[in-house]
Amino acid sequence: MSTPSLNEIVSLAKRRGFVYPSSSIYGGLANAYDYGPLGSQLMKNIRDAWWHHFIESRADMVGLDSQVIQHPNTWIASGHVASFNDPLVEDTVNHKRYRADHLVEGWLKEQKEPPTVDVDSLSLAELADFIQIHHVLSPDRNPVTPPKPFSLLFKTHIGTIEGDQDEVYLRGETAQGIFLNFKNILDSTRVKLPFGIGQIGKSFRNEITTGQFVFRTFEFEQAEIEYFFNPKTTAWQPLFKRWQTEMWQFITDTLGVEAKHLRWRQHSDAERSFYSRETYDLDYQFSFGFKELWGIAYRTDYDLQQQMKFSGQDLSYIDPYTQEKFMPHVIEPALGLNRVFLMLLTDAYHVDPINQRHYLRLKPDLAPYHLAVFPLLKNKPALVKKAQTIFHRLQSHYRVTWDERGNIGKRYLYQDEIGTPFALTIDFETLDDEAVTVRNRNTTTQKRVGLNKLERYLQQNLNKTQKNLSID
Ligand code: GAP
Repeated sequence: MSTPSLNEIVSLAKRRGFVYPSSSIYGGLANAYDYGPLGSQLMKNIRDAWWHHFIESRADMVGLDSQVIQHPNTWIASGHVASFNDPLVEDTVNHKRYRADHLVEGWLKEQKEPPTVDVDSLSLAELADFIQIHHVLSPDRNPVTPPKPFSLLFKTHIGTIEGDQDEVYLRGETAQGIFLNFKNILDSTRVKLPFGIGQIGKSFRNEITTGQFVFRTFEFEQAEIEYFFNPKTTAWQPLFKRWQTEMWQFITDTLGVEAKHLRWRQHSDAERSFYSRETYDLDYQFSFGFKELWGIAYRTDYDLQQQMKFSGQDLSYIDPYTQEKFMPHVIEPALGLNRVFLMLLTDAYHVDPINQRHYLRLKPDLAPYHLAVFPLLKNKPALVKKAQTIFHRLQSHYRVTWDERGNIGKRYLYQDEIGTPFALTIDFETLDDEAVTVRNRNTTTQKRVGLNKLERYLQQNLNKTQKNLSID
C-alpha cells in the first residue's frame, strides 16, 4: 500500500469534515486550519489516548494545564527571547520570505549529484556561505538576501490602557509551564523522584515556512512530558532508552501505526540545542518524506536552573530519605498532536486494489465513531423507530452516528471513508427476527446478529479490531 499523496488527505479532510482551511469565508488565513466535527473528535481521541497512556495509567506521572500567556520573564529565562529563531531569507525581487535551510534542502533535491551536507547542522554563517557558493535562488528563481535570525515567538499585550500595556508572549512550547509549576506540584502533591509532569495544550510559533497542511502551523497542539530524576542515582542513558521504547510503543501499539513508517534520527552535535546532552527525533514517513513527529531530549537541569535564577525562587528538590538538596534533571518527550493527526489520516488511508473502495483503517478507539446505525428506508416509520431505539441504546456505550440518506451501499462507503469500524442496518426482517446486519469496514463482511447479543458481539469485535485481530 503506497503512501497517499498530501492532496488526497487534504481533499478527504475537507470533504468529510475533518479539517477546513481557517476563515475560509474571508478567503482563508494562511497556515491556519479549523478542525470540523470529525477532526475535533479525532483530535480528542488522540489527546485521550496520550493522556490515558502517559498520565492515567502510570503511578509516576501527574498532569498539568498551565496558561498560554505566562510571565514574560519565563521566555527570557528559557532562552527563547534570545535564541528561538529560524534563519530567514528574502527574495530580493518580490520580497517573499523563506526559511534558508528549507531553500537549501530544496536546492539539494534538485541536484543530480548533490554535495553531502547535513542541513539541520548548518549555522547561520554556513547557510549564508552555502547559498552564496551554490547560487541558491528563491522558488521564483530570484536571488535571496543573506539569512538573518527571525524570532518565532508571538508577542502580544495585556492591559487595557493603550501605551501602558505589558508586552507578553504566546507560549512557544508547553514545557516551560511545567518548570514554572515544578515547586507547586512538589509542595501540593505526594510525588517523589523519579516522576514526570505531562500536559497538553496549544503552542504558537511565527513560522516562516508555511504549507504541508497541518504539519507546520502558527498555532498547534503539543503533548509534552518533563520526566524529573536524580542524576546521581539514576543513569540518564537507560532512562532515555526506556522513554524511546515507550514512545515507539505508543505510536505502533496504541495508535496502530506501521513500524516500517517510523525511524529514529539522532541530532548531531551541531544541530542539538546547546542545553541538551542528547536529542533524537522520532520521524514518520509522511508523503513529503520522513519528518519529525516527536522529539526526545535530555535537557539536564538547564530549565529549572534558569527559571530559578530569573525568579529568585528555590526550585531545588530535597530527597525525603537522605535530605540531600539538588536540582533534578529532565528527559523531555515532546509530541505535536496535529502531526499525529496527519500521520493517522495518512497511515490509516487504504484503497482496496480490487474495487478501489476507500477506507480509513483507524483503531476503533481513535475513529470518530465506533458505529453507524441505518434504518434501511427513511420513509418507513416502523423501521426508523426501531433503528432509533437501537441508536439510543448503543449511544450510552459507544460513539454512534445516524445515517438515513441514499442507498445502503453509499452509506457504507461514506462510513468507510471516515473510518467507522461497524455499520448496523435495521431492515424489515429486524421487526420479525429481532436481529440486525452488522457490516465491517475492513473486510466488508456482513453478519446477522440478534439484538439480545448485540452489545457482546460489538464489544468483542471492536476489541479484536482494536488489536488488529480478525473479527467473528
Ligand atoms: N519543548 C520542546 C519542543 O517544543 P519541538 O521539537 O520544537 O520541541 C515538539 O516541538 C513537537 O511539536 C515537534 O516534534 C512537532 O511534532 C510539534 N511542532 C513543533 N512546531 C510545530 C508547528 N509549527 N506546527 C505543528 N507542530 C509543531
